[in-house]
Amino acid sequence: MSRQHESPRLTTLRIRAMKAEGRKIAMLTAYDYTLASLVDDAGVDMVLVGDSLGMVMLGYDSTIPVTLDDMVMHTRAVTRAVKRALVVADMPFGSYQASVEQGVRSAVRLMQEGRAQAVKVEGGAPVVPLVAALTSAGIPVQGHLGLTPQSVNQLGGYRVQGRSDDQARAIIDDAKALEAAGAFSIVAECMPSDVGAALTRSVAIPVIGIGAGVDCDGQVLVLHDMLGLYRHRTPRFVKRFGDLGAEATRAIEAYVSEVRDGVFPGLEHSYAPTAKEE
Ligand code: KIV
Repeated sequence: MSRQHESPRLTTLRIRAMKAEGRKIAMLTAYDYTLASLVDDAGVDMVLVGDSLGMVMLGYDSTIPVTLDDMVMHTRAVTRAVKRALVVADMPFGSYQASVEQGVRSAVRLMQEGRAQAVKVEGGAPVVPLVAALTSAGIPVQGHLGLTPQSVNQLGGYRVQGRSDDQARAIIDDAKALEAAGAFSIVAECMPSDVGAALTRSVAIPVIGIGAGVDCDGQVLVLHDMLGLYRHRTPRFVKRFGDLGAEATRAIEAYVSEVRDGVFPGLEHSYAPTAKEE
């Protein structure tokens, strides 16, 4: 029963207002039509077509190989399904690093072909000119600070960010610069909870945490992590709300054994034989 489809489509204005009203924002990733429908029907506020799809859908060991074509295709599948939540599409590595013009062209594809309502860009000061250009072109932007997976080679691994006072201050300065450039919200990834809290207090736009503590304005998780479908590297901040991986294995093993034993399809899943004339 898709009760959420009765509600109006969420906008960036509504998401911003939720912070002012003190209402927590629930965000999850999705990458395909079927799971995006479930996520939307369950009532999340924002769906992120994250470049984490490179790992959980395509089997890469990082998000770096994900292309703009990959992102457009998955975003289109998600936006076919989602009726209520705001859909944000990640700008993948290599789609905005060369120039502001390249970034604007890439974002236009995600909006026009992917039908996203907003894009997400990783980084602080270096992406501020791009964020300003996108917002003046009418493209809502979500920032992403702290652990920015596209910079994993520069960061030296998937590590907690903002542990020193200087690093924490730099994250907060970046957040203020993103807000001034027009970002409608910011994802804060993998930082001590006091830094997540200070960051959240420092800007008027919503801060959506992933491993940034309970004081953020909302939370985001990778869907395949929280459902227990992706069983490789799971960071400490992931909570498994289900174990669909185990349930899928159980169902597939049952199918294999019923086929081998000649139990499935049986009479129940077969059409009646045609009546042959004598
Ligand atoms: O790609 C992604 O899924 C993300 C989330 C981890 C925030 O950027």
